[in-house]
Amino acid sequence: MIITCEKCETRFNMDESNVGQDAFRVRCSRCSNVFTAHKSSQGELQEIKKPEGIVEEELKTAPVNLNGDRIIAISNQKGGVAKTSTCLNLGISLSLLEKRVLLIDFDAQSNLSILMGYKNTKSFYEVLHSGQDGLTEFIEKTKYPNLWLLPSNRKMVLLAQKYLHEKNFEYLLREKLNSVKDQYDYILIDTPPSVEFFTLNALIASDFVIIPSQCEYLSTHGVNQIEKIIKTIKRNINQDIEYKVLITMYDTENIHSEVIYTKLKSMYKEKTFATIIDQDVKIKESQIMNTPVMYYDKSSISAQQYLDLAKEIVEK
Ligand SMILES: Nc1ncnc2c1ncn2[C@@H]1O[C@H](COP(=O)(O)OP(=O)(O)OP(=O)(O)O)[C@@H](O)[C@H]1O
Ligand SMILES: [Mg+2]
Repeated sequence: MIITCEKCETRFNMDESNVGQDAFRVRCSRCSNVFTAHKSSQGELQEIKKPEGIVEEELKTAPVNLNGDRIIAISNQKGGVAKTSTCLNLGISLSLLEKRVLLIDFDAQSNLSILMGYKNTKSFYEVLHSGQDGLTEFIEKTKYPNLWLLPSNRKMVLLAQKYLHEKNFEYLLREKLNSVKDQYDYILIDTPPSVEFFTLNALIASDFVIIPSQCEYLSTHGVNQIEKIIKTIKRNINQDIEYKVLITMYDTENIHSEVIYTKLKSMYKEKTFATIIDQDVKIKESQIMNTPVMYYDKSSISAQQYLDLAKEIVEK
């Protein structure tokens, strides 16, 4: 039976007959990390091979600024602006730059979990109701190298009803992340298209917010709303929180995209990413195949653009 340390990823061969229960605690002899291993799941996870030749070697070794923006919420209360697609493909791009990445599906729609092939798994709901302190037990090592996922499930919808009127409900995720955040270089949080329990928790837990926005007439309205909330958080809770607008699904064939882009750029200036994500059918195709776009078609324009976005974030 192969056991992989969740922290340093060292793999150990263990004699299965020494283990009684399915779940058991082990200490890594290399980094001393103590973690829970599962008899049933060990050895089953076959890591998928990375697409070759899409990342320059020097970027892979670029150091992570531990005091930098490592916990990133992807938020906009406007629906369908590519929050989930960005969380997945940016997370994968960072993992290809050899960064250790945790994705958090913080949306009861569970779109991110579904896209990654996770159904009926535990979620933040179970994190709060298990009676355990940490998050580690609930985090799944995915088949993609350097990539972990805290999935969502349908029970997540109950959290909003249960905790919304409790004092300090908006700090629940931040508190839980404290115990695991040093194990990852980046933590990306996908949020729902509304501002309530989940988005508030995600924003308060984060150092940085990516606001995806399409180039459409009402886009500036959605960005304004989330910007106001971030500014309130900045004044009252976390003065270091920053944000940038990411243009998504840019239609190069359409003049109105260019007009709205110019408007967004003049409003948000340096608070827009240099990288723009084009409308690209490869994103849709890759999602049908449950595969991130850079594993589906590494030469596609959106794969290249999400890698550029990852480089912009690492170099920031
Ligand atoms: N660059 C792109 N080019 C073409 N289609 C895209 C692109 N990015 C996302 N899409 C498509 O747009 C739709 C919405 O994307 P996504 O689910 O990521 O948005 P969302 O903001 O997370 O939505 P919600 O608000 O419901 O959570 C999906 O069908 C997705 O495949
Ligand atoms: Mg989504």
